[in-house]
Amino acid sequence: MDSILVTGNGPLQGQIPIAGAKNACLTLMPATLLSEEPLTLTNAPRLSDIKTMTALLQSLGAEVTTLQDGQVLAMSSHDLDSHVADYDIVRKMRASILVLGPMLARDGHAVVSLPGGCAIGARPVDLHLKALEAMGAELELKEGYVHAKAPGGLEGGVVEFPLVSVGATENALMAATLAKGSTVLKNAAREPEIVDLAQCLRKMGAQIEGEGTSEITIQGVDRLHGATHPVVTDRIELGTFMLAPAICGGEVECLGGRIDLVEAFCERLDAAGVSVEETDVGLKVARKNGRVRAVDVVTEPFPGFPTDLQAQMMALMCTAEGTSVLEEKIFENRFMHAPELMRMGAKIDVHGGTATVTGVERLKGAPVMATDLRASVSLILAGLAAEGETLVNRVYHLDRGYERVEEKLGNVGARIERVQGE
Ligand code: EPZ
Repeated sequence: MDSILVTGNGPLQGQIPIAGAKNACLTLMPATLLSEEPLTLTNAPRLSDIKTMTALLQSLGAEVTTLQDGQVLAMSSHDLDSHVADYDIVRKMRASILVLGPMLARDGHAVVSLPGGCAIGARPVDLHLKALEAMGAELELKEGYVHAKAPGGLEGGVVEFPLVSVGATENALMAATLAKGSTVLKNAAREPEIVDLAQCLRKMGAQIEGEGTSEITIQGVDRLHGATHPVVTDRIELGTFMLAPAICGGEVECLGGRIDLVEAFCERLDAAGVSVEETDVGLKVARKNGRVRAVDVVTEPFPGFPTDLQAQMMALMCTAEGTSVLEEKIFENRFMHAPELMRMGAKIDVHGGTATVTGVERLKGAPVMATDLRASVSLILAGLAAEGETLVNRVYHLDRGYERVEEKLGNVGARIERVQGE
């Protein structure tokens, strides 16, 4: 298993290109199952999760060809020769559940393994299943698999989500495009990845209104046609790399960054004393002098502060002046980066869903363990600002969500290298 070796050093300077969004691509790819015509995605990120979704779609009989060094995904699911999403693939990546809605809507049956939990929480899929049942699906759980049927096709209906769920909104939105009649999704997720999915589905002929608000209305159509669609910029990669100059000092321009994708995050950076400036090619972030100020953070569904940036923000708060309270309200166990940061000298007190961080002048490099995708990159950020060397182990987590992180940070002056594992 590879590791990443980071040596703390001074201010960063330069530009970092931001890739297409992993969490948009992982829902746009299953949309190919909704049509027999080709769907091509451009600006796709080159990540192991995308390879996993590719393997899953191919296991169902879809064709997925990667072009331009992985940045273009040419897909076509003219004939599916399987409707079973196997546990082996699904357990590796929870987003695999997103093939359920499209497969069911297209062919009236699907068998998808339950994903099981992951490091950050139990992460049930009950809301996905309830939404499909509200559209007339008959579901049966057998030996860890969801057996879904809709012999006469799905029927439009009203889906009232008791809590905001990105994945359940995505599954329901895709399924509703081919359901008979109209479907209303209430308390729908508003994330930019949902907006991106709706825009792609509309290009395929879907009739959708209200994406980006908490109520989405879909008028079902008989069939969808092919399309070409660019994956939206990854707001989590953007926020992550914006934190590099914030924690190290210096000035970095994140190419392709858009303020509307990270508004709540930028408000907290501004409160902490980090300047963010919109340029005509992205977002320029600078921390001129002195330490950042401690600020409080509460994670919420979009447009609130994203849970996927909580670990990275905690790394910054570990070196801030003052005390910061971070409240994680989306997942029940998303502070596993805290004990690792404490190995680097951070002062963090975790009680349930609240972490209180008292900033220190300087962290100290240490060997640390990545536990999940965002925790791993928060340890790298901490290592950039720490005194001495930090070796982040188990970086396979990192490669799921960040392409060539050592190259992107190295290009702006970070001392970072990948150490090949045995
Ligand atoms: C998506 O996960 C993202 N993943 C996550 O990013 C992100 O953290 C999350 O949305 C929240 O923004 C992808 O898009 C592939 P949810 P998802 O359904 O859809 C509970 C990353 O690091 N819930 O919005 O699984 C759930 O347990 C990943 O890139 C149910 O109870 O998240 C959680 O507490 C991590 N029942 C809350 O809702 C359900 O049926 C929000 O989950 C579904 C969810």
